Amino acid sequence: SHFTPGGAEPLPAEPQSCVPFKMDLESALKECSSALDLFLNNRFMDALALLKPWKNQSMYHAMGYSSILVMQAAMTFEPKDIDTAMASLRESLQTCEKFRKKVGLMESIANFWNRQSTDKLTEEEMHAELCYAEVLLQKASLTFLDESIIGFIKGGMKIRNSYQIYKDCQTMINSLEDKEKQKQTYVHFTGGVSMGIGSFNLMLSLLPSRVLRLMEFLGFSGDRTQYCCIFFFLTGDGFVRAESLLEPYSKKFPNGALMLFYTARIAVLKGNFTFAQEKFLACIASQEEWRQIHHLCYWELMWAYSFEQKWKEAYRYANFLCKESKWSQAIYVYQKASILSMLPEEEVNKLGENVVDLFRQVDSLRLRIAGKSIPTEKFAAKKAQRYSSSVPVKLVVPALEMMYVWNGFTVVGKRPGLTESILSTLEKAEEQLKNEQNPSEYHLDDQCLVQLLKGLCLRELGRLVQAEICFNHVISCENDIKHDNYLVPFTMYELGLLHRQKGDISKAITIIENVKMNYKDYNMESRLHFRIHAALNTMGTFAAKLPPSRTPA
Ligand SMILES: *[C@@H]1O[C@H](CO)[C@@H](O)[C@H](O)[C@H]1NC(C)=O
Repeated sequence: SHFTPGGAEPLPAEPQSCVPFKMDLESALKECSSALDLFLNNRFMDALALLKPWKNQSMYHAMGYSSILVMQAAMTFEPKDIDTAMASLRESLQTCEKFRKKVGLMESIANFWNRQSTDKLTEEEMHAELCYAEVLLQKASLTFLDESIIGFIKGGMKIRNSYQIYKDCQTMINSLEDKEKQKQTYVHFTGGVSMGIGSFNLMLSLLPSRVLRLMEFLGFSGDRTQYCCIFFFLTGDGFVRAESLLEPYSKKFPNGALMLFYTARIAVLKGNFTFAQEKFLACIASQEEWRQIHHLCYWELMWAYSFEQKWKEAYRYANFLCKESKWSQAIYVYQKASILSMLPEEEVNKLGENVVDLFRQVDSLRLRIAGKSIPTEKFAAKKAQRYSSSVPVKLVVPALEMMYVWNGFTVVGKRPGLTESILSTLEKAEEQLKNEQNPSEYHLDDQCLVQLLKGLCLRELGRLVQAEICFNHVISCENDIKHDNYLVPFTMYELGLLHRQKGDISKAITIIENVKMNYKDYNMESRLHFRIHAALNTMGTFAAKLPPSRTPA
């Protein structure tokens, strides 16, 4: 969570049932800071044990306690853990409520504060606002685990609400007097406000599969100044911010699993895969208590090696996931089979694997959460279907297709050399399809998939004319595509982005709006919708920068 790393203080006395002991703000902050130290030193259960006795009386204890449970839930993805975390968050909100100033509307706090200095919130009430915002944010993140559109909307509303409070807290800091600002507890408060967004990012980075989707979702909420910090994943100078946020923690806890993980993730997003691999391995070696952190690292390592097309290494980590993680067996097995499909057959045999068998398992491994299926699992099962017949039809470049599904091309695009190698793999696949003697019913779909992916590589390499030809080829096949109904809408979207890159914003908007309006009921539709919203939002910003057509009254 968001405490500034301070020296570990001796703990206040243990609560004793016979002695009424009130946990004041200062002691609470000190104790939570010790808990955070434990946590960042990979002593997760000790941290929980320290916070637990006070979680119903002290808002910082409540917040710390539920934060840890939320992280655990996000990592195990066990319904039981999610329920426990949710219950703990509700309790934490109640604990915070006890200390919050009672006002009619949350939004009025800032006005309230500015209007009359005699009505200032007490210090405790200010901290209560901050804790409330933090817990609300965590509740929102957990809501996002529910993949439904309702989950998104609910989560999004909580996030807006939470950020509104952070903003109000910022206003409060600005109106503090210098004398007050030097007080230790206010230093924590100020640190808390600025670190709130940082810790949110840390939480997001722990949800690798969901990070980009969340970003995409937040992207369309429109308040760019308020949300700019969240976008550090996507913009150049943002990395500097993320790294500088992380630095004091990395210095103090060089072997902390979360710091190592976060450092590695930033390296991935920068395209520095070698350094990332090193750090993920160090992260795995750093602790054994939370095996789930290993799983997150396996997932990331699998991708880092896939980006380099080192398929045997990538397979190794996909295989670990299949064996050890419960998060989504269908996706892991599909990933593993897809990666193996990129290797020559004799290599696969040497590894003792059977690609056809693996693909055949996918459908039966699917999860249902509250009766709903997970879109990516559904996608994988549909792709794997062609192995269920007695004469299986091989998927072409399935691992590269998944790379696109998980948004990997934007990351690989930072490395022109690797992008060129992927392009050459695609050209080989293209050649093979062309020479196919007995084209199957999937033949055209497969060709279109290869063209879409080729177009992406070419666009990333700046070869826009060739990229456009590839995209247009897919779109021209619209009426003949039989199975992969996602190809045309996704390709159109990518074509829109190509026009954006060329600087033709109005054409880009027209194409992307068309996808939004005219395509329905294809695979991973909501995934594309979030990307669309994000893209339209950035283009809206471009449009806003143009000279205004009329002056405001
Ligand atoms: C990767 O990051 C490390 C550490 O920041 C740096 O020393 C190295 O030069 C980077 N490598 C590349 C290829 O950017």
